[in-house]
Amino acid sequence: MLFAICVLGLVGAAVGQNQPCGVPSVQPITNRIVGGQIAVPGSWPWMVLLVDDLGFIAGSGVVIDQHVILTSAQHFEGPGFSLYDLDLHYWRAYAGEYNISVTDPHEKYYRVKRVVPHPGYNYTSLENDIALVITTQPILWNDHTMPACLPDATHTYNIGEVCYLPGWGSTASTGNEEVLNQVDLPILDDSVCQQEFPVFLTNTEICAGYKNQGKDWCGDDIGSPLMCKDQNGAWYVQGLASSGGDCVKADQPSVFEDVPQYSDWIKNTMEQAGYPYQY
Ligand SMILES: *[C@@H]1O[C@H](CO)[C@@H](O)[C@H](O)[C@H]1NC(C)=O
Ligand SMILES: *[C@@H]1O[C@H](CO)[C@@H](O)[C@H](O)[C@H]1NC(C)=O
Repeated sequence: MLFAICVLGLVGAAVGQNQPCGVPSVQPITNRIVGGQIAVPGSWPWMVLLVDDLGFIAGSGVVIDQHVILTSAQHFEGPGFSLYDLDLHYWRAYAGEYNISVTDPHEKYYRVKRVVPHPGYNYTSLENDIALVITTQPILWNDHTMPACLPDATHTYNIGEVCYLPGWGSTASTGNEEVLNQVDLPILDDSVCQQEFPVFLTNTEICAGYKNQGKDWCGDDIGSPLMCKDQNGAWYVQGLASSGGDCVKADQPSVFEDVPQYSDWIKNTMEQAGYPYQY
């Protein structure tokens, strides 16, 4: 009996390590349509929905390893509240989620063990708006739950490259806020966001989206990843939605944390937390 349990444990670990990052079994839609669209179930399998201790949606995040979700620091610290006031043990991170009104077949929630906001996070300027959520249990991989790739620090982006923002916050103005939506967003030159936002930080933020085209994201999408595809076809997290999402007006581009700039911090923090990055 004991032997059987040990063998199962080893098999579990091997499956975890063999799961490649950024390769969904269900392909996302990648044609560009005005206003965004409803995502195919399972096509962004690294998306997680963060729900707070009262059962309210706090935002989204992205799974990058078996115990680690990348998201914005804004969910945990802001004007009048801080990490220390939150009852994190009652928060839930839903993986394999699609329709928030029902329990989806692949949905499973994980409890939060710890949250590590970036030490340089400033909630006024939103500088370094990034945090790691460490789960209590390892996230189990299946067809609807897989890690996204984390780019390394040397990775650079290309202006004009079209990336995708999946999210539950009526991302794409599809009028359907209960299922995962997606919107395609081209990466723009920093100067576009510098004109729109006086505090845009060129070294650590990326500008993406449109001006006056009615495509944008919403508040609940904060912490959602800006997903781009590499030459080998794997999806990686280029950005994290931080500010500028105004789905009502939808006339401005948006600001994302530039994830490669934080790659070393993420890996070091994971190592210190006892969950070294596996990919
Ligand atoms: C989501 O679930 C609700 C409740 O069952 C259902 O009415 C709705 O049609 C579902 N949405 C989609 C897009 O499947
Ligand atoms: C945070 O940002 C605000 C606005 O840019 C600035 O006034 C303040 O000094 C910053 N705080 C820290 C601790 O850097």
